Order: sequence, then C-alpha cells, then structure tokens
Amino acid sequence: MAKKKTLFECQACGFQSPRWMGKCTSCDQWDTMIELSTDQIKFLQETSKAISSSPIGKAKPITQIEEDNIVRFSSGSTELDLVLGGGIVPASLTLIGGSPGIGKSTLLLKIAGNLAREGQKVLYVSGEESAGQIKLRANRLKANHENLFLLPEISLSSVLSEITHKDFSFIVIDSIQTLYSDDTPSAPGSVTQVRTITFELMRIAKSMHIPVFIIGHITKDGSIAGPRVLEHMVDTVLYFEGDSNSELRLLRGFKNRFGSTNEVGIFEMNKEGLNDAKSMAGKFFNKKKLQSGSALTVIMEGSRPIIIEVQALVSEAYGHPKRSSTGFDNNRLTMLLALLEKKLDLPLGTYDVFINISGGIKINEPSADLAIIAAILSSYRDRELSTETLFLGEVSLTGEIREVSSLTQRLKEMHTQGFKKAIIPNKPLEETPIKCFIADEVSKVVEWM
Ligand SMILES: Nc1ncnc2c1ncn2[C@@H]1O[C@H](COP(=O)(O)OP(=O)(O)O)[C@@H](O)[C@H]1O
Ligand SMILES: [Mg+2]
Ligand SMILES: [Zn+2]
Repeated sequence: MAKKKTLFECQACGFQSPRWMGKCTSCDQWDTMIELSTDQIKFLQETSKAISSSPIGKAKPITQIEEDNIVRFSSGSTELDLVLGGGIVPASLTLIGGSPGIGKSTLLLKIAGNLAREGQKVLYVSGEESAGQIKLRANRLKANHENLFLLPEISLSSVLSEITHKDFSFIVIDSIQTLYSDDTPSAPGSVTQVRTITFELMRIAKSMHIPVFIIGHITKDGSIAGPRVLEHMVDTVLYFEGDSNSELRLLRGFKNRFGSTNEVGIFEMNKEGLNDAKSMAGKFFNKKKLQSGSALTVIMEGSRPIIIEVQALVSEAYGHPKRSSTGFDNNRLTMLLALLEKKLDLPLGTYDVFINISGGIKINEPSADLAIIAAILSSYRDRELSTETLFLGEVSLTGEIREVSSLTQRLKEMHTQGFKKAIIPNKPLEETPIKCFIADEVSKVVEWM
C-alpha cells in the first residue's frame, strides 16, 4: 500500500514541508503549520498546473506563430494606464497592494466609476465596508453611476454566483484578505484561503474574459499577507508607495505579464479622491528656500524625470554613531560616508547621520549619490546650498563620479523648472541652457561648494 502523502503549510508565509514543525523555518512564526487535506493537495497540484500550463504540442518555427493581439482599454486614469503598460488588459488578473489607508479602495472605486460611465457593467465587491460607506465615498469621488454595482460580501461562493449570473465586464475585489471560501477550513486571510480564492478569480477572469482587480493589504514587513503565493498567480502586481504626511502616492509595477515594470504612476490624494498628479513638478521639493542639509537632484521614475529634495542630518554622536536612511539604501549611505572620511578627511565616524528623501520617494538608482554627499556636507558645515543648483552623479568606491543615464532628459526638466546650474559628471551631448559644472571626482564638488 502506498504511503499517504502528507503536506504541511505555514499559514503566515506559505512555506510547505512534509513534516510538521512548531516553528516555521521560513518566517520564524510559531504554530502556523497546518496539515493540508488530500483535497487541498490535489487542488494545489491543479493550481500549479493551471498556472504553468501551456498546451502540449510540437515545437513550431517562430515565423509561423501568430503574436497575441492585446487590445487594451483605458481605465480613465492616465497614470494607472501608464503603470499597466498602456491600459487594462481583458481577462487579466491584477493585484494592487499597499498599506491600510494609502488609497487602494479610493483609486479602484474611482476607476470603477470611470468604466461604469463608459458603459461597462462594473462589480465592486467589498468585504471591508458596508454599501452605505462605499456610497459615501462614491459621492465624494463622483463615481455614482447605475452601471456600478456594489456587493458587500465576504463569501466567495456568493461572489462567484453573482458574477456568473450577471454579465459584468470589470470586477474589483476589496480585499482578498476578507473573502473566504467554504472549501477550505483555514481562516480568512490565511495562505490557503488566499490561494484558493485567487485561483477561483483567475478562473473567472480567464474563462469569462473579465479583467479582475484584487486589493491586498500589506503587512508591516512589506509582504502581502498570505503573501508570495498571490504574486505568482496574478498577471500584474502593483504596489502603492507613499508617505502618510504627503498627499502624493506612487503606484509602482512589480510584475507585469503584459508590459514593463519600469513606469510609476503618480497620484495626489485630495478630498475628491486619488487623482492623477497633473504635474509632478514642484511636488517633491521646496524651491524657494533650502535649509542646510538639503540638496536637489533629478531622478528618473520610469520614463519621467522628477526633481526631488534629499535631506541629511549630521550631528555629533553620543555613543555608537547611528546611520539611518528613509528612502535611500542604508548600505550605500555607509559606503558614501566611508568614502567622505577617506577622501576628504571628514571625521564622520564620530557623527550620527540621517538621510531622508522628501515626499515618500524611494530612490533606487545611483544617480542621487552626489546629492546625498552634497546634503551631508551641507549639514556638516551648517551651510545652505544654492536653490538654483542640482547635483547629479553616481559615486564609485574610488571617489570617481560616474555618468548617469538620460542626462539630456534630466537637464531639460531642470530647465523647465527654472533651475540654472547643475553639477554633473560629464559634458552633456546636447546643448543646454543649464550652466554645467563638470565634477568627475568627489573632491571637485567640495572645491565647488
Ligand atoms: N472625507 C475624506 N476627505 C478626504 N480624504 C479622505 C476622506 N476620507 C478618507 N480620506 C483619505 O482616504 C484615505 C483612505 O483611503 P482608502 O482608499 O480607504 O485606503 P485603503 O483602501 O488603501 O485602505 C485616508 O487615508 C484619507 O487620507
Ligand atoms: Mg480599503
Ligand atoms: Zn512561515
């Protein structure tokens, strides 16, 4: 007789093991492993087959293959269309993640309203709020339309029956963590539940050819609760970023089967909801006055240049010096500090250094290195930098300043925003009205300052 196959799964992170453990070796949580039933194991196998399936067949020359023709339609928001890669793809499954209160429901209710107005029949499922509460929000967002249907419901089977009996052409699920399926014994929001529900929604999206948007809350450690399993299953994953003190929200592509993950959508939160930021300019910096410790630079968010302010605070350390940054890589900061210490003889080892990027932006390109250095020097010497000058350049371990990509575009944006001077690593290829000071080494920047 064949031995019965057993499988245990962590309900916090999705880790699987053939043996039970008191503590999950993947996420270190206690008492999260539950044994999956034979049905669940079978379901798992089906799911993974469905996700990775391609019809069995013979290889064909690529010249004989017809390309997929993706006909997208607009969401009514230029910024969302941009992150999606040009609009909503029919039959696609999209996950929008973000921390509570960041604006997920606001954005999707607005989109639902836009599409309803365009004549689409839209279903907004909410397990989070009552229909009355959503109606209040819809009033505020001007999303009221008879084509927009609200369904306050947490039972997956009721949602599915509603979907199969009406001809909706767009569906929002708010949120994946509040829905539950009777077929699995685990709690709403657990890995098993989230997977079962996502799989059913995927089936709906693909078989009925309806785009489905799923909202998912992110836990403190940055993962979507009931996490990784979801990312693998859906076509597109978008994450909201932003800072609770600022009205700006960034929607960043993390995975996209139908487009690049390069672009970033930029929205503004106001009382009418989350709207496309008409102009990014001036939102991320204060041009009139720079305090000591502030420096300006221009980063590329996807295809768009954005001028931002980086801030540094350098203060004498009592005890072990602290290094901490928000929106900038901590290891990179440590490297820059070591470099300043070595090349410029600055005694930064006895100082605390804090870095902050304004507007909740997270910098993930090296071109801001020079601005970080300028901000650190400005704070250390307690001297303000000119409001007319931007810093641009990647700093290497040897103190050289390296070229940055899209220099022409960045200079153009500086000019549009009325800046006059830039400290840059190399001569620009095209002529520019910006007065450029070429600094190919960190020491030259100090000279300039
Ligand atoms: N009446 C209101 N006027 C302006 N802004 C509001 C109002 N009510 C809520 N908000 C804003 O909307 C945000 C909540 O957005 P929401 O879409 O519910 O977030 P999520 O769905 O991501 O948890 C709040 O943080 C608040 O800033
Ligand atoms: Mg919400
Ligand atoms: Zn775990």
